[in-house]
Amino acid sequence: MRMKKVTVKIPGRPYPVIVGDNLTPVLRRELNKNVRGGRIFVLYDSNFYALYGHDMRRAVGLSRYRAVEFVVPSGEKSKSPRVLEGIYDFLLEKKIGRDDFILAVGGGVTSDLVGYAAATILRGVRWGVVPTTLVGMVDAAIGGKTGINHERGKNLIGAFWQPSFVCCDVRYLMTLPERQVWAGLGEVAKTCGLAGVRETKQLTRFIDKNQLNDTTALAELVYLSAGYKAKIVARDERDSGARMVLNYGHTFAHGIERAVGYGRLLHGETVLIGIVAALALGVKQGYRSTALAGYRDLVVEMLDHLPKRKIDPDKVWQVMGLDKKRSSQGRRYVLLKAPGEPVVIDKIKAAVAREALNEALDLYRQHGGRYA
Ligand SMILES: NC(=O)c1ccc[n+]([C@@H]2O[C@H](COP(=O)([O-])OP(=O)(O)OC[C@H]3O[C@@H](n4cnc5c(N)ncnc54)[C@H](O)[C@@H]3O)[C@@H](O)[C@H]2O)c1
Repeated sequence: MRMKKVTVKIPGRPYPVIVGDNLTPVLRRELNKNVRGGRIFVLYDSNFYALYGHDMRRAVGLSRYRAVEFVVPSGEKSKSPRVLEGIYDFLLEKKIGRDDFILAVGGGVTSDLVGYAAATILRGVRWGVVPTTLVGMVDAAIGGKTGINHERGKNLIGAFWQPSFVCCDVRYLMTLPERQVWAGLGEVAKTCGLAGVRETKQLTRFIDKNQLNDTTALAELVYLSAGYKAKIVARDERDSGARMVLNYGHTFAHGIERAVGYGRLLHGETVLIGIVAALALGVKQGYRSTALAGYRDLVVEMLDHLPKRKIDPDKVWQVMGLDKKRSSQGRRYVLLKAPGEPVVIDKIKAAVAREALNEALDLYRQHGGRYA
């Protein structure tokens, strides 16, 4: 696959997500369209910059846009008021204007942080994203949710600020640590389950053939996932309805992530365990199609690639706020009736949800850590 495009059809402000292998000419074209005589401020993730900064500057011809560059330290800790302040200082010192353009180049940390800087500096400057991780390409860079963390929790400060384009060049994934690729595949597994049988089969083929280093197969998966997210986001830009399904697997995943301690498991890794729990809960609601069972087997097999960590079920339960409740009223679960048929359910007994969580954690104990 050379290049494919999905349009995020936000009313009045549609933008393309372009997916392919070696997209330098495409990036040049998008910059030509968007920079319009102003300057371009390129903000890179530090690990990406060390690997590709030089190449990118030359190949894309950044000097033609009087480019000004800034390197953001890699890691979740950079989604902080302190690093954001550093970015504001830099942009203001270089006298950024409303006609200039900001380009975020990196994973989800970079696009969340730089996107928020773009949303807020001078009350909003246009921006584009070159996501360089699988999580970035299939999820974080699409949909305009930007923000930083607060001591009290993740992503508590932010804004909706849609980019002008997203350019996913899968060749960058060739240097991404394998663990990060698997975490991205956790989000892909979520999307495929939500999207349908054809998509879950495509992911099954990808995993069975171990195509992690096959840029064509990767590009197809990114295209599928980006396409699904684009469709949902266009229906519900501000996350007040349809976007809810994107939380599939996340009710449990957030609990596990917090219980195990942030950073000990990657978000996408906890999503895989969360999906297994949601599927177990689905079985208890009578959702038992063959296609669903095949999808469940795939996700359980994917747990093999997670590192082994001790997860205390009581603690997960506690942080989910369900320890003192008999019914998980007010707690919503996105479940699948079948691949491609998500349903939102909120009347589930706490004991039943707990059983599903225990089943998922047992499977994680049996599978996790096999290759870590
Ligand atoms: N806005 C959204 O809708 C949304 C959705 C999902 C996740 N997120 C956010 O995204 C963040 C996670 O994103 P992530 O998983 O991309 O993590 P990340 O941005 O921290 O990147 C992961 C690691 O990969 C390195 N890296 C990046 N590109 C590389 C490359 N091409 N080769 C080698 N190394 C490379 C980075 O330096 C980092 O160490 C979280 O903060 C999460 O909250 C946001």
